[in-house]
Amino acid sequence: MEKRWWKESVVYQIYPRSFKDSNGDGIGDLNGITEKMGYLKELGINVLWLSPVYKSPNDDNGYDISDYQAIMDEFGTMEDFDRMLAAAHENGIKLVMDLVVNHTSDEHPWFVESRKSVDNPYRDYYIWRPAKDGKEPNNWGSCFSGPAWQYDEQTEMYYLHLFSKKQPDLNWDNPKVRQEVFDMMNWWLKKGVDGFRMDVISLISKKPDLPDGPVGINGYASFNEPANGPHVHEYLQEMREKVLNNADTITVGECSGVTLEEAKKYASSDEKELNMVFQFEHMDVDADANNKWTDKKMDLRDMKQVLTKWQKGLEEIAWNSLFWENHDQPRSISRYGNDSKEYHDVSAKMLATCLHMMQGTPYVYQGEELGMTNVPFESIDQFRDLDSINAYHELVEDQKVFTHEEMMRYLRYKSRDNARTPFQWDSSENAGFTTGTPWIMVNPNYKQINAQAQLEDPDSVFHYYQKLIQLRKEKDIIVYGTYDLLLPDSKEIYAYTRTLGEEKLLVVCNFYENETEVEIPEEFRNGRYLICNYKEQQPIGEKVKLRAYESFVIEK
Ligand code: NOJ
Repeated sequence: MEKRWWKESVVYQIYPRSFKDSNGDGIGDLNGITEKMGYLKELGINVLWLSPVYKSPNDDNGYDISDYQAIMDEFGTMEDFDRMLAAAHENGIKLVMDLVVNHTSDEHPWFVESRKSVDNPYRDYYIWRPAKDGKEPNNWGSCFSGPAWQYDEQTEMYYLHLFSKKQPDLNWDNPKVRQEVFDMMNWWLKKGVDGFRMDVISLISKKPDLPDGPVGINGYASFNEPANGPHVHEYLQEMREKVLNNADTITVGECSGVTLEEAKKYASSDEKELNMVFQFEHMDVDADANNKWTDKKMDLRDMKQVLTKWQKGLEEIAWNSLFWENHDQPRSISRYGNDSKEYHDVSAKMLATCLHMMQGTPYVYQGEELGMTNVPFESIDQFRDLDSINAYHELVEDQKVFTHEEMMRYLRYKSRDNARTPFQWDSSENAGFTTGTPWIMVNPNYKQINAQAQLEDPDSVFHYYQKLIQLRKEKDIIVYGTYDLLLPDSKEIYAYTRTLGEEKLLVVCNFYENETEVEIPEEFRNGRYLICNYKEQQPIGEKVKLRAYESFVIEK
């Protein structure tokens, strides 16, 4: 397998609004990130992915961009950005920008022009259609509730928005749109950024006839209908030639609706498109069919089946990205682990072991390295995320699919805001995030779970992540070894091996509180522990008893 620096990297995702506020306005900012570069270096990560920092009216917290070459007022200035980039580079950290080009803000000058008249030069930058039988042009729903179409009185036509109505979809079939995007990307590369995370890039190419799709619980077809459209690979190959080949970049495509077959094209080792993709199948194992609003717990066998499919399916052909969390997902410890006081640390470490020992590039989402948990939201007013708020109104008030109590339970379990509360720096007021009023509530558990306490404790979740990241730097097998699942039918244990030439690792994770037992394959019985989430390691024999949430790695 070809060796590449981006395969050997660990990426840390920052959601700037919630990371560190340097000026007391209650909103995280670029100077806050610069201030904390030493913390990131200490953790050991070597790539930073920033959620969008561009000028934006913030309908969707920066995923609605009104100027791709300016910084959001709340986050600082372009000079602050340059200083942050320099500080990252001085600390050996590369910087990945969030590229949000499936759509812009409706306040972007292109859209302001586009909606003016049917013959405006920017009209064809977006996707406009006349009404069909007096209604929306098709049955697609927005990701954030309601239809994916907005009627615009000015020209008496609808425009497409797969996300909020303030996020109109760009028309990638227009070569001028592609050139604008490529020029903008080259501008950022020239500035010195090291790559891009590409927001819903799998959705950019729509079938020209925009066909209806099967409807879900709210009566609309999924926003994912256009996934992997007819020209998406062609457009990404063009991007590769016109932009990405100009520098030594790292690229990851957020590919909602991606299949294994499609991922082999997006992230193929022939390096014609992207380096890797984010797939979401393992985020759906606790969904109800297509509906994420449930508090159903996953069956570990489904999780293993999905992750193994991706590990084996891309082996030698493409490259995986590994993640439990991001700004769109609830906290993994509250979802797949156990956030009670007793099992907090050990289950956070178990989840980390399970993920970081797989093949692929791991992503750590801010606060995951502390085991930050879901948030005990009490009322709908405490939410800030338009996805959560719109879903509440649609499913509880308008359609009465769920009662208030049910929906609050689902929101506490699945809302994106669980991952968006302020980073817990220390035990001072507002968790040390801001001296002002935070834009979203602070998780009340910050006195127990915070970076300062964990930096002082050698057994903390933070130091365990640090160790996993360090191990990956030291051992090629963790990066390049092949993955093979053991015990596929076990309901409690996730076990697999990694193999590179003569070397071999055994990874064992007990996903539950119940004690159980695992048989150690013969070749590992004379091995040694590389890492274990309990201080007292048990002798390696034919069998090893697994304590609650125990996980370890044995080297042959
Ligand atoms: C995916 C992003 O991760 C999410 O936060 C955003 O709301 C949508 N794309 C729309 O840009």
